[in-house]
Order: sequence, then C-alpha cells, then structure tokens
Amino acid sequence: MPRIDHPVADTAETVQWKGPLAGTDHTTIRVPDLSTAVAWYRSLLGLVVKERAAGRAFLASPVTGRVVLALTETGHGLEYVSFRARTPEVFQALGARLDADGVAVQQRKFVARPGADDALRITTPAGHDIEIVLATDDAPAAPVDGEYRLGSADVRTSHLQLRTPDVKGLTDFLSIIGFRSSMFVPSPDGQGYFMQFMRANDLHHQVAILTGKEGTHHVALEVDEIDFWALLDHLTVLKRPAEYGPVRHHEGNLLSFYIRDPFGNRLELASTMEKVGYDYQPVADGHQPWYHMNMWGPQPPESWENEWM
Ligand SMILES: [Fe+2]
Repeated sequence: MPRIDHPVADTAETVQWKGPLAGTDHTTIRVPDLSTAVAWYRSLLGLVVKERAAGRAFLASPVTGRVVLALTETGHGLEYVSFRARTPEVFQALGARLDADGVAVQQRKFVARPGADDALRITTPAGHDIEIVLATDDAPAAPVDGEYRLGSADVRTSHLQLRTPDVKGLTDFLSIIGFRSSMFVPSPDGQGYFMQFMRANDLHHQVAILTGKEGTHHVALEVDEIDFWALLDHLTVLKRPAEYGPVRHHEGNLLSFYIRDPFGNRLELASTMEKVGYDYQPVADGHQPWYHMNMWGPQPPESWENEWM
C-alpha cells in the first residue's frame, strides 16, 4: 500500500485560511399553503420532498438528494437562510465569536434539516434570520430512489439578495461569521455602501446586499448551464412566464432568470457561480448599472425593481 505523504484533510491552519463557512446550505421560504407550494416547486423545478415535518417540507435535488430549499406553512417571504460550518471546531468557534460580539444566539430550539448534527440561529440588524448548521455525517450525493428520471436537473443552492437601508451595518455583521466582500458600490457620501456582494467561500457571492426597505428580494438556486436552458424550455411547456430574463449578470458571471411562486416569493434560477478563490480582493463597481444587471442589455420590469418577497 503506497504511503500518502500529502495532507488529505483540513488542518486547523487550512480551515482558518478558508474561513469558517463552507457556503449556503439551504434556504427556508414561508408559504401560506404547503401542499400547493410543494406541487409547484416539484412541477417547475423538479425538487422532491426529502422529509416532511409538521407544517414544513424539506426539498432536495433528485440527482444528489441534497436539501436545497425548505418550505414552511407560515405566510410568505424568507424564514431563514442556512450556511454550513466547515467543521465541529469552527462551529464552536463561531458560537464563541458571536457571544464575544454580543450577538444573541438561539440553539436547538427549532426544527433543523435532516442530517444536521447541530445548528444555531442569529438575527441580522436588518431582521434577516441566519442559521449556521453543522452536518458532519451527510450521506454522499446519490439520486433519490424513484425520483430520478431523464431530464432531472441537479438543482443546487446559490445565494440570496437582501435589502436594507444600512448596507454597511449588514456587511459588518456578516463579517463576524466569516463573509468577505467580492464587489461593492460605495454610497455617494463615501461613508458606506450602496451595494455589496459577499462570499464565505471561493465562489463570487452567497449574499448580495442592496440598499432598500428591509426585506428579502430573492432566493437563488443554481443548475449547470445545460440544465438552465432546459428549465427555461420547461417553463415554456408549462406556459409559465419568467418575471425577468434570461439575462447574464456581471457579478458572478451568471446566466439567470426570475420567477415568482404562486405566493409572490421570488426565485432566481442561475447557472454556476463564478469561482474567484479564497483570497480574491474586493473590487469597486466599474461599469454602468445596466451592464452589471444584464450584460446583454434588457433591464428588469417595475415589479422586480419595486417588489420584494
Ligand atoms: Fe441574485
């Protein structure tokens, strides 16, 4: 048996270098009618129910069995976004860091996703709930029995867009849990930001923060580019119009289109996020606004500009 001389697992040093979070784990969206919502997310995106608890359904990719979205029968909008801690050590360290920074932490008082070992929840200054989940024993990716069929798309988590009048406040808060800036637009007074794109791993962003009334603008899932076009054609067959798109966003170099679920929640379906690396230096906005929004030109409708989830 040949000896392996190179490290095959993270050490304390490499985990530190990468930051404490592996990335977006899943997002939970509020819906007023769980059965209608489950049917909609299944028929439009091909997501399958992994587990159903009281008033809550965890939806997974049929290709990998990974939970990417949860639905809870409690109204509409974002319930929480969950980011995954890399290791038990960094999960503990994040808890200690939040305590040291005076951030109120809730632990084990809520329903965590299937496969979670532990989780904590915090609330941002703008009122968004964030979960940090520890899941060390996730099963290897495998198609869901009886659910994988020709054309099933591997739907993965991507990012979400939050709104707040205080972009700097939310930027500073996210930095406590390991987020770093990838791209920003300074506010006209130079004291804060108009816009901020932040990452916890080597992909361009998991959180976009834009100036506006506090809330959540959209939740984004991603698929491979070939599945992106197939999903658009799937909408054609179902006669469901996109709210906006297809477009190519400059930030993350994404293909993207937006749809609203039957309750007004806005989903972005994106292609794979650009990988920029852990040590990427943040860059200031360098183009006209239209080019950032859609390098192909056409700009969003009024509903996209003025309505949140
Ligand atoms: Fe987005």
